[in-house]
Amino acid sequence: MEKHIRAILTKILLPQSSQNLIDAGAVDSILVKNNEITVQLRLPLAIAKFAKAVEHTVHGALAKELPFSGEIHVLAAVQKANEGASAGGVSQVKHIVAVASGKGGVGKSTVSANLAVSLAQSGYKVGLLDADIFGPSIPKMFNVEDARPVAHTIGDKDFITPIEQYGVKILSIGFFVDSSQAVIWRGPMAGNALKQLLTEADWGALDVLLIDMPPGTSDIQLTLSHIVTLSGAIMVSTPQDVALIDVAKGMDFYEKQTPPTPILGIVENMAWFTPAELPGNKYYIFGKGGAQQLAAQKHIPFLGEIPIVQSIREHADNGTPAALQENSLVAEYYRAIAKQVMNRLK
Ligand SMILES: Nc1ncnc2c1ncn2[C@@H]1O[C@H](COP(=O)(O)OP(=O)(O)O)[C@@H](O)[C@H]1O
Ligand SMILES: [Mg+2]
Repeated sequence: MEKHIRAILTKILLPQSSQNLIDAGAVDSILVKNNEITVQLRLPLAIAKFAKAVEHTVHGALAKELPFSGEIHVLAAVQKANEGASAGGVSQVKHIVAVASGKGGVGKSTVSANLAVSLAQSGYKVGLLDADIFGPSIPKMFNVEDARPVAHTIGDKDFITPIEQYGVKILSIGFFVDSSQAVIWRGPMAGNALKQLLTEADWGALDVLLIDMPPGTSDIQLTLSHIVTLSGAIMVSTPQDVALIDVAKGMDFYEKQTPPTPILGIVENMAWFTPAELPGNKYYIFGKGGAQQLAAQKHIPFLGEIPIVQSIREHADNGTPAALQENSLVAEYYRAIAKQVMNRLK
């Protein structure tokens, strides 16, 4: 009888997979008693929503094809995130959030670094992945340029251990290539590197994993949304028209993914400049409130603004993100944005 049941199960495909239930390892146990058959299935977390449908299909097939008049029970359990072969990688990461923009130089990496620090200081477990394969800047911003992550073994697989600095778990392609060598890679190579940093690293249990994206909408963005499901994207822009046009394109890209990546909101960076000797004056060097207007126009949240501050640049360059100075006004800007982001993720 059990053989017959197995034969039937090999004819049923696992949803969103080309493998049948037996080959996919989705059959936990088959129990045949005199008058009762119980089939226990275990499905990957990613297809949890199909559990009932799978139970139904399997039950229907068994009832139809087996020469059996007793009761048939089919139970589909869902694998927990940290169970089985999926340990390591991002299996225990609650939210993966891309920090993106259209243009380079608008402050994505600076925002990513300071947000990560700010979230860690608020008690969240935070990771930061530098996905700017072609121009990694996170190692320098965290003063860990010389770090060389090591691997450790979980089960029978090796995982890269992220570097920890200021309470943030960090990985960057910059750790694996010489900083003086320009990284001239074809798209597929860069995509593979990103995939490894996500799936072959031991990120552990995190509330948020921020991904500092390269500018534009290139292969990397596409690859990313194929490897993991993003909880959302934070768009960073200066108030300048040329930056805003690119940000609008970037948003379009994320919204067109299947499933669409929610836009958590826009951060307006370099919103104004105030010279130290004229603290009451605000100079809107890149224009005034452009990102805020774009947010209103596109009906997406405005997450906050950050002025041009010399210490933000200096702290970025010396490897101590400005948000580490907890009592500073600058830290307050980032804290306010971090709070907005977390509110939108819950
Ligand atoms: N609010 C700010 N005030 C002063 N300098 C800033 C600010 N935001 C970013 N910068 C500086 O601007 C430059 C570009 O920022 P970066 O974060 O590297 O941009 P991106 O990652 O978008 O290319 C860096 O030198 C950085 O220190
Ligand atoms: Mg950058």
